[in-house]
Amino acid sequence: MIFTVLTLFPAMLESFLGESLIKKAQENGLLQFNVINIRDFATDIHRTCDDAPFGGGAGMVMKVEPIHRAMEHVRKEQPGARFVLLTPHGRIFDQQAASGFARVPHLALICGRYEGVDERVSALVEDEVSIGDYVLSGGEAAALVVIDAVARLVPGVLGNEESPSDESFHEGLLEYPQYTRPRQYMGMAVPEALLSGNHEEIKRWRRKESLRRTVLRRPDLMERFRPDKEDSMLLRSIMEEMD
Ligand code: 6GU
Repeated sequence: MIFTVLTLFPAMLESFLGESLIKKAQENGLLQFNVINIRDFATDIHRTCDDAPFGGGAGMVMKVEPIHRAMEHVRKEQPGARFVLLTPHGRIFDQQAASGFARVPHLALICGRYEGVDERVSALVEDEVSIGDYVLSGGEAAALVVIDAVARLVPGVLGNEESPSDESFHEGLLEYPQYTRPRQYMGMAVPEALLSGNHEEIKRWRRKESLRRTVLRRPDLMERFRPDKEDSMLLRSIMEEMD
């Protein structure tokens, strides 16, 4: 899979892309990253990429032309990219959006900066996403979030192909609690079920704790969750334990 990032601050991405899992996946040829400096596509001698907003007001707006020229450059070099603008008014990027992006052969992320991006960029892109309800000073941190979440869903990147399936948000539930040695720490014990060696019991305990955690911490996720018969039984038992 190819990721292209269009940004005014290429250095903000480079250290992240040169470490750990992402670095290995590049070495293995599973992922390719291109970081494009939008400033290289400005047309004037000052390489201007922002300007004052029409209608007045504080702050600067990113110009459409350098972004469009950078996009055309990407299209010419590697046709078929899906262009996504990172902006606080995009649709929310969640695990489902990550799975969708993981099926795209070439994802091109455009990082907005300053107080905004000329609205006409919206007409040039396939998609606009936000990583949550808070304001970042630019799309660069959001691009890293999107790349991390998507890259680990690309087959082969994680190594262990089992891992993505029983994590938080798969099936819309939070992940169950994990423990490792020692069995006792400062009076806090590892739950008995996990030490039982009984795989059915362990599976059941994990499902129940996954449900419990989601009910307590993310009731909003429960609204979309469709429990099966076993889940309903576990949920009843959780409710009884609460009162
Ligand atoms: Cl994608 N960009 C900015 N500037 N702020 C954000 C965001 C993106 N997602 C959440 N907040």
